[in-house]
Amino acid sequence: MTFPLNERVAIVTGAGQGIGAAIAHTLSAAGARVAVNDINPDKAERVAQAIRDDGGNAVSISADIANKFQCVHLIETTRAEWDRLDILVNNAAVEPAGSILTFDEWDWQRCIDVNLKGVFFMSQLCGRVMKDAGGGVIVNIASTAGVEKPLANRAAYCASKAGVVGFARECAREFAAYGIRVNTVLPGIVDTPMTQRMGADDPEKRAEWEKLVPLGRLGSAEEIAQTVLFLASDASSYLTGSTITVDGGMVMR
Ligand SMILES: NC(=O)c1ccc[n+]([C@@H]2O[C@H](COP(=O)([O-])OP(=O)(O)OC[C@H]3O[C@@H](n4cnc5c(N)ncnc54)[C@H](O)[C@@H]3O)[C@@H](O)[C@H]2O)c1
Repeated sequence: MTFPLNERVAIVTGAGQGIGAAIAHTLSAAGARVAVNDINPDKAERVAQAIRDDGGNAVSISADIANKFQCVHLIETTRAEWDRLDILVNNAAVEPAGSILTFDEWDWQRCIDVNLKGVFFMSQLCGRVMKDAGGGVIVNIASTAGVEKPLANRAAYCASKAGVVGFARECAREFAAYGIRVNTVLPGIVDTPMTQRMGADDPEKRAEWEKLVPLGRLGSAEEIAQTVLFLASDASSYLTGSTITVDGGMVMR
């Protein structure tokens, strides 16, 4: 099934690799024009170029979403390119590791700044544009680690993702009056550079993770992207304030 996006303009943060890159490709394949953001300009440009090579319409815009001025630059560059903004996907995140007993205060701060404050900045700034335009869609990528299943040695990450879930619900309530829908995806364990950094390439570690998942495997970035596409499209026109878990059944409620 496909959900057409008909030239709508999307910003995807942290889209230089992994889930964000898959989202950028998937939204483009559905007809969207995509601003590929990443803090790493080379990674962002590689993804944007690959989309253009596939016949899509994409630009890369480097920005650190923890910095409000850089968020303004990201949004204004997108609008200068296409003169509209319909879809925001808050995907960028970091996951500093360590025991709570010894966790560094600056690592904690950076994690909250990127994963939670960045979502606030982008939602606020894009929300203003979408309100003036009469509507829009925001999709947040949180994590099962924020609400159901703690991720070992990632307390700041878990806290930031729980924060995104809470923020997103109030954002959905406030923005509903402006025709802006806000939904959140909770991925489980997905095969990306992030999980590779945590040991996904180690067969023993991978087998341990696979045992947690009734479907018996890690998810792919594309499988998360398909849910984001649904949420970004008119097929989900009556969905707002929802969290959708995409985890192969790891967490069941
Ligand atoms: N991989 C998983 O198993 C998993 C599970 C649950 C949730 N998630 C969430 O999915 C999203 C994507 O995860 P991933 O696995 O693709 O991660 P990843 O680390 O592979 O990619 C994240 C991208 O974000 C970029 N980024 C980091 N800080 C940034 C900043 N300040 N501004 C702009 N870009 C920045 C990085 O450069 C990188 O390209 C994240 O929100 C993550 O928390 C991932």
